Order: sequence, then C-alpha cells, then structure tokens
Amino acid sequence: MFKFASLLGIASLAFGQGISSDKLQKFEDVLALSDSFDPIQAAYWTGLPHHRRTPFAVSPDGTTAFLAYLNSKKSAVVVQQVDPSSFKAIGDAVNVSGYEAGGLVAHNDGFALLTKTDATGSSNLPTDNTPVATLVRYTNGAASWSTELNGASSFGAGQMGRTATPDINGDLVYSESAGLYGAYYVVTAYDGDASGHYGDAISYVSDKGERKDDTVGTNAWGCSHNTGIAFEEADEAPFASVCAEDHGSIWLNTDTRGMSGIKIAGENTTNGVSGEPMGGMSGSYSNLARLGTSGAYMFAWQSRGCVNLKQDDWMGAGFTQCDPRWLNHNVAVAPLSSKNALVGNEAISEVGAAEGDKQVIWITEDEDTDHQNVRVAAFDESNVLVTYEIISNPTCEPVPLSCSGTFSGTGFQLVSSSGATQGSALTDTDVTVSGDIAKMADGRLCWPYVKQAWDLSAPKDSGTATSKMSFACISLDGPTSASSSSSGNASSAV
Ligand SMILES: *[C@@H]1O[C@H](CO)[C@@H](O)[C@H](O)[C@H]1NC(C)=O
Ligand SMILES: *[C@@H]1O[C@H](CO)[C@@H](O)[C@H](O)[C@H]1NC(C)=O
Ligand SMILES: *[C@@H]1O[C@H](CO)[C@@H](O)[C@H](O)[C@H]1NC(C)=O
Repeated sequence: MFKFASLLGIASLAFGQGISSDKLQKFEDVLALSDSFDPIQAAYWTGLPHHRRTPFAVSPDGTTAFLAYLNSKKSAVVVQQVDPSSFKAIGDAVNVSGYEAGGLVAHNDGFALLTKTDATGSSNLPTDNTPVATLVRYTNGAASWSTELNGASSFGAGQMGRTATPDINGDLVYSESAGLYGAYYVVTAYDGDASGHYGDAISYVSDKGERKDDTVGTNAWGCSHNTGIAFEEADEAPFASVCAEDHGSIWLNTDTRGMSGIKIAGENTTNGVSGEPMGGMSGSYSNLARLGTSGAYMFAWQSRGCVNLKQDDWMGAGFTQCDPRWLNHNVAVAPLSSKNALVGNEAISEVGAAEGDKQVIWITEDEDTDHQNVRVAAFDESNVLVTYEIISNPTCEPVPLSCSGTFSGTGFQLVSSSGATQGSALTDTDVTVSGDIAKMADGRLCWPYVKQAWDLSAPKDSGTATSKMSFACISLDGPTSASSSSSGNASSAV
C-alpha cells in the first residue's frame, strides 16, 4: 500500500504537482474535548445537515493554535489551545459565554473570538432577547476585553435602525499592519427603516477593543438576506469582502460594501435565499484566501451557473437575474489581483444574454454530481488548495436551490494563482472540512473535522455529540516527519 501511494506521488509529479494521497495526513480523534460538541447544524430553509463550524487559527509566530466550538448545551464557546504539530490539548480550555463560534483569530499571546451574546445595557435592546455580535479578546488565558458590535450601540442606528444577530454566519479577520480586527456578520434590524429585514454589517475594532466606526469600510447594512459572506484581511481597511445576495449576484464589494461593486458572478436566487455559495448556515469561512503576503486573493464558491439573463426590476437598470445552468452545483474560483480587482472579467449584466457565466473558472463541470461546502486556502503565492464535498445521485430542488444525495467524498484540488488546476483532484471519503483551513509554520494547510459517517441524504438538525476532534493536513511536498505520530497513515488515504 505504501509503495503504491509513493508511486502515485511520483506519477502526479510527472503530470504537474497535484494532491496525491500521500500528501493528506489524518489525525483521527486526536484531540480530547473538555465539553461535548454537536457537529451538525440545520441549514436555513431546507433543514439539510451542515457542518457546525469549528473555527481554527494559528498565531503569526506559528507556535500557538486554537480551536473554538460551541458546546452541545449551546451555552458557551469553548476555546482550546492545541499543539500545532500533534493537535493535542495544551492547558485548560477557556469557556466563553456565547452562542456561536463565529470566527477566531490566534495571536502569539492569546486569541480573539467572534461570538453572539446577550446584549448588555438597559435601553434600546434587541426585541425577544435576540443576541448581538460580540468580539472577545483573551490574553495569556484571561479575558482582556469584550466589545459589542451591534445592539443598542449599532452603527447607523439613526437610519437603517439598530440590529441584532440571530446567526453570525460571517467571519472575523485581523490585520497586523492595520492593527484592526474586522468582522462581517449577518444582522436583522429591530427598529428604524430596515426593521424586520435581514442584511449584513461590517465592524472594525482596535487592538485595545475600541470599536472604530469611523474606519473606512464600516457598514450598517449591506447585502440583502446575505447567508454568504467571504472576508479576508488586507494591509489597511477596507478589508476584502464578498457577498452573495438574494437578488442574483455575488459581489466583490470591498469598496461599496453593498449589493454593487465588481460582479464576480450571477447566480439564480429567490427572494430571501441567496443559495449557499459560501456554505450557507454555519459557513462563510475559508472562501476567500490571501495568497501569501501578496495583495492577491482567491475566492471559491459553489455555483449553479447563470443563463438567460433578464432585467432585475427591483434593483433597476444595470442589474440582472438569471436561470441556473444546472440544478446541481459545481466548484468555481475567481482570482483577485488585489482586494478590489479581479484578474479576469467581471460577470456581464446584459439583459437578453443567453449565457452569463462565461467568465467563470470552473474546477468541476458536472451535470449529474453536486458539489457543496467549497473551501479555499493558500499554501503560498502560487499554490492554492480548493476543497469541496461530492454528492452523487443528487436530488436538486429549483427552490430553495439545494441538493441532497449520497456523500461520496471530499475533493482536494490544487490550483495555481490564476485558478488553473494542477494535476488531478484527490478524493477522500473519511475526511471533511468543517472548520477554517489554517496555514501552519511548516507550510502545511490543516483543518479540524469530526470523524463521523457524513450523511447528506435527508434533513437533520443535530448529530451525535462528540468529545473528540480530528485534524487533517495537506502538504505540498508530502508528509513531514514532525507529524509522523499521526494515528492514521498515508496509505489508508485512497
Ligand atoms: C468549562 O466547562 C466545562 C464543561 O462544563 C468544565 O468542565 C470546565 O471546568 C470549564 N472550564 C473552566 C475553566 O471553567
Ligand atoms: C431562478 O430560476 C428559475 C428556473 O429554474 C426561474 O423560474 C426563476 O425566475 C429564477 N429566479 C430569478 C430571480 O431569476
Ligand atoms: C496503515 O493502514 C493500513 C490500511 O488501513 C493498515 O492495514 C496498516 O496496518 C496501517 N499501518 C500502520 C503502521 O498503522
């Protein structure tokens, strides 16, 4: 078996560097959790099972890694420091009051967590006790500050209204050079012009925990019914942002924040549903990756294509809607030359055009296989990993744009900085991606997952609570000696 894996490695080298099975390492059930974790969260609208996100992050010096997860009682977010080589626990976990593990940044001396909490204060609070988005910082194991991002103090309260956050479905990033955290998250307004509606907001917070609402890029109300957020740090604000809205487009909206800007793609949508281009409920992580320290990025998503363009009467002139090319989803990427520019052309918005997806770079282009849970991470400035789940014999519903079927493995495809596939994809049936893909100090890309039978055949709103977390890693050069203590072995990955 081992010889076979090595031969595969040599063969893929000969055809250009791809991801061969010996480059995938599994650390099954390696981390004992201090509390239990329910690995499933039901998707908005369909109730189909989604991975409940377990954010994972590594500090700039590479020595400190943290995993965050919501406990199964849904009363606290547990943040556990782990060894970046063995993935075993280091020290006691911290229990942070909160209801969602919505994003995590690792520092050399601790972490920052985006969660949702009960609002504090006595006036202008959210109705029905809806929580607010909160950023919490821990330094050397102790809480150093906690900053509410919306609720009574919502930015833009006077116009669109104050907002609460029933589900974050967003992301937290940190820019060392800007000295700023940025959070992009889902909101619903409980007063003001937008009362009762859903949108998204962007907040910036300083190293000291001060909200920096005067930062360019701060936003009260962006994309309608956005359950698809992609966010990545930049050297200065505004950070790179992408939104999928329910009117028919995915926007690179770094400069506009709203349902406008550079149109990455047209997508078939319906009122209140943008589809799940960035994973939908509990998704919105590892969809936009900065390529090393360059200013370039890669965006990856699941798309149904876009044909038969028609005028969007509600948005007005210059905005279009479309029909799906397929009812199943394929994997697409869009390289960005900077935080606010695409390498290729933007999508057209030409009423009457037969095809509106000619600009898309397809990683898969199947008519009878579905692809979901698309993630992307960069090894360096020229090698990018795209991952996705493969669903065979899918049943795909026109509305609400989703598919169920037989989970047939996770695909791992290496692409270049221009989105060109390098070698063929590796498929593995044991590993999924259910938390952020982090770059390790030794160059590997690693992420957490729960070892379980992954069933995408029917709605499911909870899973079997687990007290173990697994990790998997992919290296460009094959396994490194640092991690040969793996409980799995390379030859078992087919
Ligand atoms: C966190 O919660 C777990 C489970 O309830 C508990 O066992 C542990 O002692 C708590 N940790 C701290 C530091 O309070
Ligand atoms: C989405 O596609 C369906 C056809 O599958 C079409 O009936 C519907 O109008 C499209 N939605 C939009 C917003 O164009
Ligand atoms: C590696 O995996 C194979 C297949 O599962 C198994 O037969 C073999 O015993 C494993 N080897 C080690 C060293 O764990």
